[in-house]
Amino acid sequence: MELKKIKEGVFWVGAVDWDRRLFDSLIPLPDGTSYNSFLVRGSEKTALIDTVDPSKSAVLMAALEGVDRIDYIVSNHSEQDHSGTIPLVLEKYKSAKVLASAKGREFLVDLLNIPIERITAVSDGETLQLGGKTLEFISTPWVHWPETISTYLREDKIIFTCDMFGSHLAASSLYVDDEAKVCEAAKRYYAEVMMPFRTTIRKHMEKVEKYAVDIIAPSHGPLHRNVKCILDAHREWVSDDLSNTVVIPYATMHGSTELMVDYLTDALIGLGVKVEKYNLAVTDNGKLAMSVVDAATLVVASPTVLTGAHPAVISAAFLINALRPKLKFASIIGTYGWAGKMVEQVTSTISSLKVEMIEPVIVKGRPKGDDFKKLDDLAAKIAKRHKDNNITK
Ligand code: FEO
Repeated sequence: MELKKIKEGVFWVGAVDWDRRLFDSLIPLPDGTSYNSFLVRGSEKTALIDTVDPSKSAVLMAALEGVDRIDYIVSNHSEQDHSGTIPLVLEKYKSAKVLASAKGREFLVDLLNIPIERITAVSDGETLQLGGKTLEFISTPWVHWPETISTYLREDKIIFTCDMFGSHLAASSLYVDDEAKVCEAAKRYYAEVMMPFRTTIRKHMEKVEKYAVDIIAPSHGPLHRNVKCILDAHREWVSDDLSNTVVIPYATMHGSTELMVDYLTDALIGLGVKVEKYNLAVTDNGKLAMSVVDAATLVVASPTVLTGAHPAVISAAFLINALRPKLKFASIIGTYGWAGKMVEQVTSTISSLKVEMIEPVIVKGRPKGDDFKKLDDLAAKIAKRHKDNNITK
C-alpha cells in the first residue's frame, strides 16, 4: 500500500472514521472523525507516532504491512483512540519500544496491559535520533489528560500535538482545504474537549510558539499548514475576551418556560445583546458547548418537574459546569406549578462557574403582566453589565 507522504520519510498512516457519530458516549460527531498516526523514517531507526482507535486497528495494520521495522512507538496521549492499537503494533514489531511521559507509561500499563518493560518514559526536552530525523518530546500535560506530550520533528518542522489543535472531522484531504469548515469543527472540538484546560493551553501555546513550525499535525482531523490560522483561532478561544452574547439552554413542557425564553430573547435583542437559545429537546450538546466558548452570560431556563429542574436542563447545566467556560454572568428563569427547588438545584449544578448570579425570575404557572416586567428588568441588568464591562462585540 502506498503511504500518504507528508515530507521525505514522514507519512500519514491513520484511519478516517466517516461513520462515527458519538465519542465517549457523550460527544456528538456530526462530521465523523479521524485518528492520525504518523510514520517517521530516519536513516537508522523508524518511529510510529500515536496509533488509531481499536475499531480501526485493521486499517493501521494494513498500512504497516510493507513496513518491515518500527523501533519506537511514541504515545503522545494514552486515551484509547490513539493508544488502542499499540498492543497490536508491539505484537508485530517484537523489539519495538513505546515512548511516553512517566504518567503515560502508567496509563498504558493500566489501560492496555502493555508490559511495563516495553515502555520507556521520556522527559520534557528529551530528544531521540532516528538518523537525519530528530524527535523532541515536549511536555504538554492536560491536553487532554494529565500525561499528554507533543512531539516535534526538528528537521521537518512538524509538531505532532495529538488532541491539541485537533478537530473531529472526517475528510479525504490530509491537509486543511476549507479553513472555515475546519475552524468550525476545531471550535466544536475545543469546546467539547479542551475548554476546561483553557489557561493550560494558553501556556502550552507560548511554549509551542518558540518552535519553528511549518505543519501542526494533530491526531484528529486535517493537518494545518497555515499554522497561523489555527493558532489565531485558539488564541481567541483561550483569551479572556467575551462576546456580547447570552446563551439560553431551556426545556419546556407546556410552553410557559418557552414563552419566558422568547420574551427575554426579544428584550435582549432589543437592547443590542445577541442571543443563542437552545431547546434541549432537540439540541446537539456540541453546539451548546461551542456557544459558551465566548459568551458572556448564561441564562438557564427550566420548568419544574415534580420538585426540581427538568432533567434535560440539569444535564446541560452539568455539562456547562464541567466545561468551565469563561462566562461572567448567569441567571435562571422558569416556572413552577405548586412548589419546588428548581433554582437551588440549577444553582448548585453550575457552582463551579465563576459567574455573578443575577436574580432569577421564577413564575407560578403561565407568565403574565408583572412577570414580563421582571424579564424586561433581567434583560436590562444583563445589557448593563455587558456595557459596564465593555463587552460590546
Ligand atoms: Fe483523542 Fe483524548 O483522545
